[in-house]
Amino acid sequence: MSDFQEYNKNNLKSFTLFDNENGQSYDVPIIEGSEGPKVLDIRDLYKKTGMFTFDPGFTSTASCSSEITFIDGHKGILRHRGYDIKDLAYHSNFLEVCYLLLHGELPSQEDKSKFQNVITNHTMLNEQLVYFYRGFRRDAHPMAIMVGVVGALSAFYHDSTDFSDINQRMIACHRLIAKIATIGAMAYKYSIGQPFVYPQNHLSYSENFLHMTFSLPTNNYKVNPVIAKAMDRFFILHADHEQNASTSTVRLAGSSGANPFACIAAGIASLWGPAHGGANEAVIRMLEEIGDVSNIDKYIEKAKDKDDPFRLMGFGHRVYKNYDPRADVMKKTAHEILEELNIKDDPLLKTALQLEEIALKDKYFIDKKLYPNVDFYSGIILKAIGFPTSMFTVLFAIGRTVGWISQWKEMIEDPVNKIGRPRQLYNGKNSRSYEEVNRREKKSIFQWLWKK
Ligand code: CMC
Repeated sequence: MSDFQEYNKNNLKSFTLFDNENGQSYDVPIIEGSEGPKVLDIRDLYKKTGMFTFDPGFTSTASCSSEITFIDGHKGILRHRGYDIKDLAYHSNFLEVCYLLLHGELPSQEDKSKFQNVITNHTMLNEQLVYFYRGFRRDAHPMAIMVGVVGALSAFYHDSTDFSDINQRMIACHRLIAKIATIGAMAYKYSIGQPFVYPQNHLSYSENFLHMTFSLPTNNYKVNPVIAKAMDRFFILHADHEQNASTSTVRLAGSSGANPFACIAAGIASLWGPAHGGANEAVIRMLEEIGDVSNIDKYIEKAKDKDDPFRLMGFGHRVYKNYDPRADVMKKTAHEILEELNIKDDPLLKTALQLEEIALKDKYFIDKKLYPNVDFYSGIILKAIGFPTSMFTVLFAIGRTVGWISQWKEMIEDPVNKIGRPRQLYNGKNSRSYEEVNRREKKSIFQWLWKK
């Protein structure tokens, strides 16, 4: 029995629902986690009342219990396994955070070097995968390549798909964390027509990624430590974010028993959307479109106009109703990188700073609690390092893979694990009889198609 069920049994707190129609009341147990809002345990609501709950977008629904990440969106708090994100971003490194997310504790010195060795040993790809890349068009979006190649991993690593075996499960986790950086770098190299660069075991995770992305056979990329630190910070800040769209996709896919590589491919596909991981790319496009600080007011008005689909990209969050703590670290890092690279008066940074200042004073954004999110400043850092915008979401996916796989592992190991199967509020036609085709009324459903 899990802790929260034990708690509930001993405390017996409940919430009473009253059905006006039949005058009956139902007690719904209240359970508490270690932090955060209490939840109503509605698992047997349907059995007791014959009713479902309706919550499109899961705005009031906890789909699982988890020990990995805690967010208090009103206070702007993000913690992994109890550690504040800013502490991790400023003092830790990405592989240490990977260990923390996967295993629940920061590693000892000995475990840290063992983990580093294990990950390093898995960074190469099966050489056969190189041919897989060649099947893509050169102008394919690197995220499309990521979805395909990660999905294909299960065809190459048969010895880590039986996740009922703890050893195979751990190998799959290590392989994914290690190989995702190589896959991302190769997707980039392929898209620009350059030869793939193999990983170098003496480099750190982030240094290695920069090396595979920017080195050429003719010219070894000399990794600048300030850039490597910023890259590492970027990966830490994206490592996990509890039950967001892509993580929930990974859990839902995994709940059916699908193999971990297929589940992570599903997560990457979900991350690609502009309302999720695709926003960092959209921020740069928006800043370029705004072009000059003199145009900001016009774009703020567009964002506020209900009839205009334009939204301020990099602003707003489902959970944060206060400054996203990751955006704060990103903003500082953007300044550090531009200074290191001697980029003075970057027009995008200038527009971003001014846009943020104006939006944060505007009643619309204040009332709706819309603050900059992690994507608002990250694109400026990535662009300064030399990544094209099409790679931004790939970088998010590289950082997030450890979160996805840690959440997947937690779900697999949870005794309460059940296949995910949401219900629905059916709002379609009632039962009707089949009609032969010559008796059917002429309908115009396909008019748009026939017109062509
Ligand atoms: N610009 C202008 N208005 C906005 C914005 C925005 N960026 N975001 C939300 N609103 C308005 C929205 O129109 C709505 O107004 P009303 O109540 O009058 O209908 C209200 O604020 C609430 O918005 P919502 O869409 O119901 O909120 P949500 O929680 O469903 O959406 C969001 C969250 C992140 C999808 C949304 O804020 C958004 O589209 N932001 C821009 C895209 C973006 O930056 N995404 C990155 C998210 S952080 C990275 C990640 O975790 O993936």
